[in-house]
Amino acid sequence: MVSVTERIQQLKKERNAIILAHNYTLSEIQDLADFVGDSLGLSMEASKTSADVIVFCGVTFMGETAKILSPDKTVLLPEPDAHCAMAAMCTGKQIKDYKTAHPGCTVVGYVNSTAESKKEMDVCCTSSNVIKVIESLRGKDVLLVPDRNLGVYASSETGIPIKLWNGFCSVHHGITAAQVMDLMQKYPDALVMAHPECRTEVLELADHVGSTESMIRTARTSDKWEFIVLTEIGMRHRLKKENPGKTFHFLENAVCTTMKMISPESVLDSLENGTGEVTLGRDVLEGARAPVVRMMDLT
Ligand code: 13P
Ligand code: SF4
Repeated sequence: MVSVTERIQQLKKERNAIILAHNYTLSEIQDLADFVGDSLGLSMEASKTSADVIVFCGVTFMGETAKILSPDKTVLLPEPDAHCAMAAMCTGKQIKDYKTAHPGCTVVGYVNSTAESKKEMDVCCTSSNVIKVIESLRGKDVLLVPDRNLGVYASSETGIPIKLWNGFCSVHHGITAAQVMDLMQKYPDALVMAHPECRTEVLELADHVGSTESMIRTARTSDKWEFIVLTEIGMRHRLKKENPGKTFHFLENAVCTTMKMISPESVLDSLENGTGEVTLGRDVLEGARAPVVRMMDLT
């Protein structure tokens, strides 16, 4: 009897498909993927792949971004209802209205947003290139949507004033300074790494702030053997796999439930039956492409 994983590998060859997975997906998904990474790395892979089909194991905005960058390819989301809650916190209409009320304002949109919102933005960013993107706008009137914590972080790193939106990620915003200090007391030798979606008071306690992929790099190159990792627990898989002998401490309730919806069975269903295909209207596809490409050009 052929296993789910074997069938996935067979179908991948038959369909000339590639499987991309975010660092927060289940370990079994990461293990069957061709590439595992952060939002920026995944977008880059999606834009340069020669595969005909991209199976995107991540939340919906990630699959949409892949489609925006590779409109001629088939992009499949194994769990098309796995949304990022923060992406719904700033709609395209809200951006449009804001721009009408504030002519001349440049809207920087975190990639964690819907394609429809992206269409109204001037430039996108991810957690890994937000500083570069903001630096490129020095002297301009800038609004960053939807993540408030990311905006505060980018502003304090660059010294550039940024107007903020009230969006947040409940997984990261839910991490408190008291919880972090507790971990720091328990593991005083650990290097503290935090995602910029965390609260400012949490970031102030961290030795390293950056995207999920930057944490993987930091863990690899650091001469420390113990780490406190302030992001989603799916990161534990690669960190442990790629750093045998090093220890990683997480807050166990830092779980992105929608990322965890993606299973080997749903990947197989997508590949076998073409379920979860990303389809975007021409106007959204074309409108959203400009801010995403502008970001890629800056990276
Ligand atoms: P990264 O781009 O750093 O992987 O972050 C994506 C995300 O959704 C964080 O919550
Ligand atoms: Fe969205 Fe937060 Fe999940 Fe990241 S961890 S995908 S920001 S809900």
